[in-house]
Amino acid sequence: LFAGETEFVKGVVAMSGLPAPNRLEVCFAGRSNVGKSSLINALTGRKGLARASNTPGRTQEINFFTAGDAHYLVDLPGYGFANAPLPVVEKWQRLLKQYLSGRQTLRRAFVLIDARHGVKTVDEEILKLLDSAAVTFQAVLTKADKVKEKERATILDQVRGALAKHPAAYPEIVVTSSEKGWGIPTLRAII
Ligand code: GTP
Ligand code: MG
Repeated sequence: LFAGETEFVKGVVAMSGLPAPNRLEVCFAGRSNVGKSSLINALTGRKGLARASNTPGRTQEINFFTAGDAHYLVDLPGYGFANAPLPVVEKWQRLLKQYLSGRQTLRRAFVLIDARHGVKTVDEEILKLLDSAAVTFQAVLTKADKVKEKERATILDQVRGALAKHPAAYPEIVVTSSEKGWGIPTLRAII
């Protein structure tokens, strides 16, 4: 599906700039720095496709990438703490929420959760928004290479418990490491 067939289309800063809704799409949401852009690079096999960095707040636009001829992968700005001025952050957070609740071609939101931290209060706000908008979402644990197996099991239980309260949650959780390539073929297949 992905190899050699992905291309950056555009970065969007307002709802009016969204590409025409003529392809189905999936998006990658999550707290700043959780690994959204890195995951897109791992999925597409193209390291520099989505810009990743150690500074929370790296992605500040809604970035569209083609996946083959009929789909988009959408890289979102993070929510929660970001290393950017407050008015700027507020602007992109508003856009993020508008996109998540009002995009007719959005088929699934992957909500990324750091395998070290689990579901936080800021995540809950987004999960509720997805429930209200009836957007099916699926949790993806990121940076699994940074935790020991026992710790990972504890976090998985916490995430499972949190998802159980959300009608729009797809129950299966995907465990990934973009660095090690773990879970990437599984996630590709799901998409
Ligand atoms: P924003 O755009 O700022 O919201 O961040 P993001 O969610 O797109 O995160 P990004 O992909 O930029 O990654 C943030 C940092 O985490 C970078 O330094 C990545 O190298 C690192 N990172 C991402 N995925 C992994 C992973 O699977 N394992 C490890 N060890 N580090 C990772
Ligand atoms: Mg990013």
